[in-house]
Amino acid sequence: MNILGLSFGRPSQRCDILVKEALFAAHEAGADVRFLNTMALRIDHCHACDFCSRCRERGDVEIHCCLKDDYHVLEEAWLDCDGIVIAAPVYAVGIGGQFKNFLDRLCPSHDRATLLEANRNRQADGKPLLDPRYFRDRYSAYISVGGAHARNWVALGLPMLHLFDFSTTQKCVGHVDAYDQGNTGSPILDRDLLRRCASLGTALAEAVGRPYSDVDTWAGDPDDGVCPVCHCRLLNFSRTGDVECPICGIQGRLEQEEDGFSVSWSEEQLRRARNTLRGVYEHYDEIQNMIRICVPKLTDPDNAALIEREMERYARFDTLTGNP
Ligand SMILES: Cc1cc2nc3c(=O)[nH]c(=O)nc-3n(C[C@H](O)[C@H](O)[C@H](O)COP(=O)(O)O)c2cc1C
Repeated sequence: MNILGLSFGRPSQRCDILVKEALFAAHEAGADVRFLNTMALRIDHCHACDFCSRCRERGDVEIHCCLKDDYHVLEEAWLDCDGIVIAAPVYAVGIGGQFKNFLDRLCPSHDRATLLEANRNRQADGKPLLDPRYFRDRYSAYISVGGAHARNWVALGLPMLHLFDFSTTQKCVGHVDAYDQGNTGSPILDRDLLRRCASLGTALAEAVGRPYSDVDTWAGDPDDGVCPVCHCRLLNFSRTGDVECPICGIQGRLEQEEDGFSVSWSEEQLRRARNTLRGVYEHYDEIQNMIRICVPKLTDPDNAALIEREMERYARFDTLTGNP
């Protein structure tokens, strides 16, 4: 059982300490652990060049990104793990760009529905199947680290980390919101924080190898979330009383109670959360439908001629506006 710990913070600083604390506990519970600090790695942003899609479409067994930087080190480490704990600093209310670059490069190109459909076609054609590591179920845990005392200054930290579960259909076993580090000084001075991070490592080690349906653990912070899937506190709200978790994409209903409000979520909605197989297929089908609508529009001769004519104006933007 391999548990990977990634820190997106400075070497030997707070993210490192907290993710290592989780790994110590995972190791104690019997896991092989690996730690990587990503700060010195070069992880460029996705160029949307579609190279990874072409790898898949032409029948490659492995799907790669064509950018030559350190992303591949992290991709391989992730492919080899059964569970992952990520600690990342909050920069400007959300998680810093290095993490988002990694997510953008890894998750969409490893979308479970797309890869399952690719394998189904390959099987039918008698072609080599994709690397089986792409289909491994993995568990995750997240630690958001922020300096601010006010929790609203870390509001998008945990939610952004949870985005890492989608596409690859990972199941999260817990999270820790390590805000207020400016006052804490060092996580070493906060034994409760260390204990909560350690509980993430134990939960990961205990979950690995079990089917998702058997694991209903929540470790780390006491659960004060609203969404029953990601346990975050964020909601999109409409004045009709309908609400939606922007992370998991599930819809619920705001209910007024005697002493406040609650949200009710149907079993049906829980089953279609973005990190479930059904959730990724919902998105896959949506994309296939877009292709069916979009391609005939773009290949229609009248539309194609109109677009070509109009594009000339956009191409001459600099001349027309004096853009330097
Ligand atoms: C550019 C930048 C922006 C930051 N913005 C926030 C913020 O919005 N909210 C917050 O709580 N902390 C913020 N911080 C503080 C970091 O989250 C904090 O120092 C954290 O401990 C860094 O992780 P590390 O110690 O593992 O490197 C910011 C730090 C930097 C460098």
